[in-house]
Amino acid sequence: MRRIGILTGGGDAPGLNAVIRAVVHTAKNEFDLQVLGLRNGFDGLVEPESVRVLSRSEVRGILSRGGTILGAANRGNPFARKIIVDGREEVRDVSAQALHNIEQLKLDSLIVVGGDGTLRISKELCDRGAPIIGIPKTIDNDMGGTDQTFGFSTAMRTATEAIDKLHTTAESHHRVMVLELMGRDAGWIALAAGISGGADVILIPEIPFDLQPVMQIFRARAKRGSYFSIMAIAEGACPKGGLQQFKIPAHGLHIPRLGGIAQQVADQIHEKAGVESRCTVLGHLQRGGTPTPFDRWLATRYGAAAVRLAAAGEHGLMVNLRGRHIGSMPLDEALAQTPKLVDPAGELVTTARGLGIVFGDE
Ligand code: F6P
Repeated sequence: MRRIGILTGGGDAPGLNAVIRAVVHTAKNEFDLQVLGLRNGFDGLVEPESVRVLSRSEVRGILSRGGTILGAANRGNPFARKIIVDGREEVRDVSAQALHNIEQLKLDSLIVVGGDGTLRISKELCDRGAPIIGIPKTIDNDMGGTDQTFGFSTAMRTATEAIDKLHTTAESHHRVMVLELMGRDAGWIALAAGISGGADVILIPEIPFDLQPVMQIFRARAKRGSYFSIMAIAEGACPKGGLQQFKIPAHGLHIPRLGGIAQQVADQIHEKAGVESRCTVLGHLQRGGTPTPFDRWLATRYGAAAVRLAAAGEHGLMVNLRGRHIGSMPLDEALAQTPKLVDPAGELVTTARGLGIVFGDE
């Protein structure tokens, strides 16, 4: 019997379990392939002891569950794996071991579900002969080569609901509410939720901001009788001529962690405009919870498409969504278009501006 493996790498995103379920069912029903589940991202490839066969019963009831039954890890890069030797941290290239284990496990294909980082590692492994098919996942929606990643729709819903909730309390207390949203260097979540939730100000990394026009809109709204405002700010947003805010800056091989811009902006609004403001950081709530029907639908279609490619012996590809169609493209081409950022002159920003939403740039 032919065999395929699946692993989920990087930060989790709602819809991962829907992918796993679709892979297992499609592999069994359409092609009679055996599916092995590798645990904790690439860790499961380097140390495959916990690999297990995924049967239909293993994936029963997981379609609507957030997280991933396989576990995820964003520190398992086989080209730079951290290990402890004599109590000290060392970095080793264990990619040869990972490639060897693909053969040992007799995997005809390995489906890797991940975002930018995970799929870049996959591309390196492909270049060394690994039979990988990528599936684009991230709440940030910043993977190139596809119109949408799964996970984004659920994060957008969670962020929009947060804005709805902030509206009522902002209005009651005549405050400015600043909501910090995830997305790394891309402003997709802040922009989409800001438009859907009726924010007055949206600050995103793609449009460096100045607080002057932002304060003007607060004053203009007050003149019109609205003594409150809502701001959706992406964690990667940056003041003109300034720097992004990090909770943990980049050092060595540590992944930098963005965060803190909303508090800084809320404090400045308070000081400079004398308007009472509060900051909310939505954080990992955006990564959790029940996936939306759209994310389940997209994740399922991606999983099924990846199995069809595997069965046809095609590798080095990433499945994608173009318009309404699921297809695929070379992994390296998709990565060359990553990160996919918001176009400051595009339809979404133009639509938002037309609604009177301020981006802090004019
Ligand atoms: O890439 C997904 C994401 O949630 C980003 O939006 C965010 O910056 C980052 O991951 C947070 O990573 P961690 O869970 O490691 O703190």
